[in-house]
Amino acid sequence: MLNATDQSFTRPAVPMAHPHGVTTATLDRHGPHESHQGHPHRDRPPCTTPLIELRGVTKRFGSKLVLDGIDLKLYANQAVAFIGPSGTGKSTIMRIISGLLEPDAGEVYVAGQRRQGLMGDTREPEGVDLRLVFQQAALFDSLTVAENVGFSLLQHSSLSAAEILPLVERALARVGLPGVGDRYPAELSGGMRKRVSFARAIIENPTSDDTRPELLLYDEPTAGLDPIASTIVEDLMRDLSRQVDNCSTYAVVTHQDSTIRRTADRVVFLYGGQIRWDGPVTEIDRTDNPYVRQFFSSAVDGPIRVAG
Ligand SMILES: Nc1ncnc2c1ncn2[C@@H]1O[C@H](COP(=O)(O)OP(=O)(O)OP(=O)(O)O)[C@@H](O)[C@H]1O
Ligand SMILES: [Mg+2]
Repeated sequence: MLNATDQSFTRPAVPMAHPHGVTTATLDRHGPHESHQGHPHRDRPPCTTPLIELRGVTKRFGSKLVLDGIDLKLYANQAVAFIGPSGTGKSTIMRIISGLLEPDAGEVYVAGQRRQGLMGDTREPEGVDLRLVFQQAALFDSLTVAENVGFSLLQHSSLSAAEILPLVERALARVGLPGVGDRYPAELSGGMRKRVSFARAIIENPTSDDTRPELLLYDEPTAGLDPIASTIVEDLMRDLSRQVDNCSTYAVVTHQDSTIRRTADRVVFLYGGQIRWDGPVTEIDRTDNPYVRQFFSSAVDGPIRVAG
């Protein structure tokens, strides 16, 4: 076992989930030229090719048209929040961006290259290092925290357990959880489990010569957390994006007002399969877009139809 006190371990016989995830992204149609006032990346040069571009992306599940011809560009150095009512396709768009799900129609470009099939279908690595933090923290219950955080390095690097342990500890320290490596997920609070899933996403591989820009994808990172735990996670997202070099970018799906305001530069509002609004977070209280207004006022009346 990968254990902070016992450095011998066995590679866990657990199927590999997609490795990790956390980032900072900004808006699409406002493009990379948009100013990043107040944002940690504002001093970094913008990258002109979108990290991700969706062209006419359509996805159905059965008779339900979830995404209906979505065009979207995610640029480096931007923090983008996908918002919208439940069931509107936010997780679906994240899964398509990450390459876990294929669109029925339309194209996905990763750093300017068209993706063929799903993530991992080709031997060549994609031009962006995509890292995911799932809606559920998605830790393996039967593995310790250290084993969860070190899992991808155990599976995909030539590093020994003894070499991985300090990297695990460093990742845990970066998310404010030093010394919890020996515990099991069930022994942690929901907020701590979320932070462990961040540590898993950001663990470094010092043997890698990967210089690709990173894109962190967070699905509902603060769902189910109390306001204080939410603030800790929101601050962590911002802090991690400041610490990561090289065009670090993230996209976040969230319902939570505090998370939208505290972590996003740009907001993309999805409803009825389409992008209904796409603008800077500073505009969400000023725009008269009826979808945005209804969402932020929690009004029953408006263009958003709530089932039941
Ligand atoms: N694998 C699947 N099979 C069938 N239907 C699916 C599948 N994945 C998603 N759906 C449906 O697609 C729609 C969009 O789902 P999605 O999870 O993207 O919504 P969401 O905006 O993330 O919602 P929430 O805010 O509740 O997480 C929903 O109606 C959902 O039931
Ligand atoms: Mg979802």
